[in-house]
Amino acid sequence: MLVLPPPILPCLGALLALLLAPEGLLAFAEVKPLITSEQLLWVSGNEIGEVDTYRIPLITYTPKGHLLAISEARKHGAYDWGAKFIAIRRSEDKGSTWGPTSLLEDDGSVEDGLSLGSVLVDDDMGYIFIIYTLCGHYIRCNVSSTMIIRSTDDGLNWSPPRNLSREVGTKMFSAGPGYGIQKKQDPKKGRLIVCGHGTISGDGIFCLLSDDHGRIWWNGGSLKSIPYNQPKKARDFNPDECQPYELSDGSVVINARNQNFYHCNCRIVVRSYDACDSLLPEHLTFDETLVDPAVAAGALVKNNIIFFSNPAHQSSRVNLTLRWSYTNGLFWAQETMQIWGDASGYSAMTSLNHSVDDMQYLYIIYEKGRHDITESISLVKINIYGHL
Ligand SMILES: *[C@@H]1O[C@H](CO)[C@@H](O)[C@H](O)[C@H]1NC(C)=O
Ligand SMILES: *[C@@H]1O[C@H](CO)[C@@H](O)[C@H](O)[C@H]1NC(C)=O
Ligand SMILES: *[C@@H]1O[C@H](CO)[C@@H](O)[C@H](O)[C@H]1NC(C)=O
Ligand SMILES: *[C@@H]1O[C@H](CO)[C@@H](O)[C@H](O)[C@H]1NC(C)=O
Repeated sequence: MLVLPPPILPCLGALLALLLAPEGLLAFAEVKPLITSEQLLWVSGNEIGEVDTYRIPLITYTPKGHLLAISEARKHGAYDWGAKFIAIRRSEDKGSTWGPTSLLEDDGSVEDGLSLGSVLVDDDMGYIFIIYTLCGHYIRCNVSSTMIIRSTDDGLNWSPPRNLSREVGTKMFSAGPGYGIQKKQDPKKGRLIVCGHGTISGDGIFCLLSDDHGRIWWNGGSLKSIPYNQPKKARDFNPDECQPYELSDGSVVINARNQNFYHCNCRIVVRSYDACDSLLPEHLTFDETLVDPAVAAGALVKNNIIFFSNPAHQSSRVNLTLRWSYTNGLFWAQETMQIWGDASGYSAMTSLNHSVDDMQYLYIIYEKGRHDITESISLVKINIYGHL
């Protein structure tokens, strides 16, 4: 590997961006992110649909080039268990305006309701899937179910839920939170991959796979916590909530929450060269640049640049920050962009890919507050190259 002194790296990065940029799209592709708009999609406190708290934001592009924002609508309180809906809003003008909130999958008044979750687009078929969990915390229940719903009309209507646990078992699996991927390169081009984490003691990263557009699912690779299925202590190895993305060589990178701060207060990164059939310790690294307080973070590849969003702090959920890498995550640009300085929690990213203009924008949805991350869910639209 060529090792260069740090001052040369940003230039090298920009050069690589130029060399790697899809032909004819952009003359020069140095990242200079600029927030071009921001709006609150959900505000907690019984203001929208008498829902106490909105949390766990997800965002995706749709097959028709629109945007879909999804969150947990926690009916009675901010706590992780309890009764919920899935809240959905849709934008047909690239995030300028948003339709009203639809509340799906009312789980009644159970003690341990649904948990989000991953959203996944099958580009070949034009499907959107949402994967969520029932009884994810074993509060007055002892069997978890992994559930999936599908839309075949761009997110307007949704199928009844299907219980994937009949196929993949009832081990607690909590997808994402974030998006699942469809492989765009070989190996296993077209495969659907949804990664998530397990129970607190039986934690780790686990991936569900489908090679027939979501008809049959099975358990793919896993990277288990140590000690597995036993109570954890500080600094144990405990990979948790995670976001996969595919690199142009067809490998899949999973960027994960480091729940017990094994090795560092930073992100766990594992790479799979077989489309998540396996997740091997020899392909595991710790990204010390990605300082993290143990949280769900956003990651996305756009124009061959990796983008990463999280509250960039060793221990507190504050300072939502965007970073980027021209080198597949080997180095991160020295500049960063602060999106919000105060309370910042989970974040997720998407981008559209339907016009030349779309190539310049990223969308980041995140938990935002002055004092508490549960106050609201906000969406920022970012021009990657600093154009207004
Ligand atoms: C599982 O939960 C049911 C319903 O709450 C309860 O009746 C049963 O005893 C539980 N089983 C175990 C093994 O905890
Ligand atoms: C889902 O399937 C599993 C395995 O058959 C079962 O134990 C569980 O009760 C089912 N969950 C729901 C919500 O029907
Ligand atoms: C936010 O994070 C960035 C990147 O790590 C850092 O440079 C900056 O000092 C942080 N700001 C605050 C207020 O913590
Ligand atoms: C984006 O669009 C290009 C050109 O149509 C296509 O080659 C590429 O696979 C798309 N990327 C994603 C992530 O859909």
